[in-house]
Amino acid sequence: MLQVDVDRLRADFEALASIGATPDGGVDRTTSNDAHLAARNWFLGRAKEAGLDTSIDPAGNHSALLLSGSEHARTLLLGSHLDSVPNGGNYDGALGVLAALETLRVASEAGIELPITLEAIDFTDEEGTLVGLLGSWALAGMLTDEVLASPRGGVEGLRDGLARAGLEPARLIEARRDPSSLAGYLELHIEQGPVLEREQVDIGVVTGIVGSRSFRLRFRGTRSHAGTTPMDARRDAAVGASRFAAGVREVVVRDFPGCVATVGDIRVEPGAFNVVPGQAFVKLEFRSQEEEQLDRLEDTLLSLARLEAEREGLWLDVDPVGRWTAVVLDPGLRSTIAAVTAALGLSSLELPSGAGHDAQALATVTRSAMIFVPSAGGLSHDPGEHTAWRDCVNGANVLLATVLEVARAANELLV
Ligand code: HGY
Ligand code: MN
Ligand code: MN
Repeated sequence: MLQVDVDRLRADFEALASIGATPDGGVDRTTSNDAHLAARNWFLGRAKEAGLDTSIDPAGNHSALLLSGSEHARTLLLGSHLDSVPNGGNYDGALGVLAALETLRVASEAGIELPITLEAIDFTDEEGTLVGLLGSWALAGMLTDEVLASPRGGVEGLRDGLARAGLEPARLIEARRDPSSLAGYLELHIEQGPVLEREQVDIGVVTGIVGSRSFRLRFRGTRSHAGTTPMDARRDAAVGASRFAAGVREVVVRDFPGCVATVGDIRVEPGAFNVVPGQAFVKLEFRSQEEEQLDRLEDTLLSLARLEAEREGLWLDVDPVGRWTAVVLDPGLRSTIAAVTAALGLSSLELPSGAGHDAQALATVTRSAMIFVPSAGGLSHDPGEHTAWRDCVNGANVLLATVLEVARAANELLV
């Protein structure tokens, strides 16, 4: 069975990790910052060195291609994302893009006659510095004016981020692919949770991906002098926002088992010792595997926000800025992954993903599947994120073998 070139993959991993490296061992490659743009260029450079074709689509998705010789060949997409959360880890997204590139190199060097084109793709803005799943949504034809009108990163943030990457907002939707041109999508990714490590299992075959919704909330009170405003005469935005944040944890733990909700940021203004805060800006996000649970969570948490605002005599502004639906991943591809994993002498188990991924956009237009490898301590979105190199290589070999199996099956379909 063909295997990845471990030394070459390692060299790529270390070279990429140095682009945007932070002093505490992580990376800071938020969408369109200098390091992110440099990483994307580096990726295309490595593809060209391997003699692969490259492309950048109108949504900024960067691709390496190994073209099939067959006319009308469909394309199997494999990849992930090179952008990171602020001061994130070295593996989230990066491992999937590098393993996809390595898959194309091995297939090219082996001189395999491919009935399908293989495309290793780095999707734009998976993490939502601008929008969230921006590139994969665009490719799937799901990017709407409504989404672009109220992006997670704010309208100015989106405008500036696109400009830095040389992308035109009006052309993003041109990245849409005709679903009939796609043979599927495969993504290798770290689990970002504790299950595989706890169960001591090599490979996770992902059953589905969680749905999530994001809101910006603004609690508006009355800023006033911290020394002369009596305690019973205040409309303190920080108090309303903080009570809300504590209430979110209490309600979800009590009434929504299996769901998660996060107040990821509370910023008060003006933020001075001696001024009662007039405004508090809150970032709220919640997730569930079921859409109706997300509906219930939305009603419950926004009612809680209104209640806490009223209690403190505040106004409340609610701005929906993100909505990702839960998806089930392709059963056929999942069984292929399980079979090649066993053939490689590796153990596997099926599990859902609590993290969002580009695969949940692709799954709306083409059969899609994900391969997980263990995360040390389940830690992710943190400089301490780590996956043992042996597990990285296992994951890359499973991706390679799955791709070759999909190509073989496609060949059979052709004959
Ligand atoms: O937020 C997520 O779950 C993913 O890492 N973007
Ligand atoms: Mn990711
Ligand atoms: Mn992530």
